Amino acid sequence: MFNVERIREDFPILSREVNKRQLAYLDNGATTQKPRAVLDSVNQMSTLWNANIHRGVHYLSQQSTEMYEGARETVRSFLNAASTREIVFTAGATASINAVAYSFGERYISAGDEVLITEMEHHANIVPWQLMCQRKGAILKYIPFDDNGELRLDLLDSLITERTKIVSVVQVSNSLGTINPVKEIVAKVHAKGIPVLVDGSQAVPHMPVDVQDIGCDFYVFSGHKLYAPTGIGILYGKETLLEELPPYQGGGDMIAHVRLDGTTTWAELPLKFEAGTTNYIGAVGLGAAIRYMEEIGLNSIQAYEQELLAYANQRFATISSLNIYGKAPHKAAIISFLLGGIHQLDTGMVLDKLGIAVRTGTHCTEPVMTHFGIEGTVRASFAMYNTKEEVDRLYEAILVVQQMFGGAY
Ligand code: ALA
Repeated sequence: MFNVERIREDFPILSREVNKRQLAYLDNGATTQKPRAVLDSVNQMSTLWNANIHRGVHYLSQQSTEMYEGARETVRSFLNAASTREIVFTAGATASINAVAYSFGERYISAGDEVLITEMEHHANIVPWQLMCQRKGAILKYIPFDDNGELRLDLLDSLITERTKIVSVVQVSNSLGTINPVKEIVAKVHAKGIPVLVDGSQAVPHMPVDVQDIGCDFYVFSGHKLYAPTGIGILYGKETLLEELPPYQGGGDMIAHVRLDGTTTWAELPLKFEAGTTNYIGAVGLGAAIRYMEEIGLNSIQAYEQELLAYANQRFATISSLNIYGKAPHKAAIISFLLGGIHQLDTGMVLDKLGIAVRTGTHCTEPVMTHFGIEGTVRASFAMYNTKEEVDRLYEAILVVQQMFGGAY
C-alpha cells in the first residue's frame, strides 16, 4: 500500500518550516528532496568507503569501484538496458546531451545536414544542438506544439527530410507536463532509418521507463530530479552507436593506452565516455535513490501522482482567473499557470511567504513561453511525497494572492 505519510518521514527536509510555516515543497521539477536512504549512502560512502575508483589495488579502492559498478547495474536494470556497457555516468542530463550532440556531430553531421527537435524542449536539449549545428553548418528544425501543449506529430513526416540525421524529443515536458508518445515517435523516425535521443529527465521520477520498449538510441536523465544527489546523471546509448562515436572529453580512465605520438587508444565502453574522476559518490547515491523508488514501486508512484494531479485540476478548475498552460490529456503532475494579469513573480513571492515553494519564470523553456506570448508562469510540480493537503494549501494561497492583487486582473 502506498503510504504518503510514511514516505514523508523518510525526507527530513519536509518537516522543516519556511517563513514560519510548514514547508510545502512543490518545486520538484527543478529538483527533488532526498530521502534518508540517499543521504545515508552518500554520507557512508564519504566517511567509510572513499577512495578513487578503477585506480587502486588497495581495499578501499576495490570496494569503492564495486559500489560504483553496482550502481551502474542498478541503473541498467531500472532502465532495462541490455548491458551496463550502455550506461554512462555523466554530471547530469545537460552533460549527457552535450556529449551526444558533440560526438554525434563530429561523427555524422556535415554542412547542410538537419537535426530535428521540438519546440517544447528544455534549453538543455536545444542549445547543445544549436552549438553543434553552428559548428558544422547544419540546420536545426523544430516540431511545433498546439495550444494544449501537444506535439504536432501530423507534421513529423514533412519535417523529416533526406538530410535529417538525428531526432531528439523530451518524454515529459518540464513546463507543460505533456507526456509525449515517445515509443510511437521512435517507431516513425526509425522507419526512416534515423536515430532518436529521448530526454527523460522529467519522466524517470514519475513512471516506469524501459529503453528497450521505447526503442530509443539515446536516453538521458539527471539524478537530482530523481531523489538522488546533484552532479550525477545518465547517458544511455545503444552499444553499437556508442562504439562508433568518438569520445567527448579526454583524460584519465577513458583511455586504453596513451602514446606521445598521438596513437592513443580508448577504453572499452562505457569508460570511453567517463574521462577524469567521475562523481562516484553521487553515482552510489543515485543507486540508493533508484532502489528507494523501486521499493515503493514506480507504478504506485505514478498512480498516486496522477491522483494528486486530478485532485489539483479539480480544485483549480473553480478559480476562474487561473489559466493553465499545458492541457494535454496525458500529463505528469506538473501545473503551469498564471492568475489573470498578476505577474508570476508576485504570485511566487506571496506563495513563498506562505511556506509554499513553486518555480516562477520560463522554467528553461523560453520558446514555450514565446508560443503562448507570455514571459513566464508559476509552476507547481509534484512528487510522490506531496499530499492533497498541500494542494489545498496552494489553492487557499492562490485565493490570498487574488485578494492582495485584486485590481490587477
Ligand atoms: N529543468 C529544471 C526545471 O524544470 C531546472 O525547473
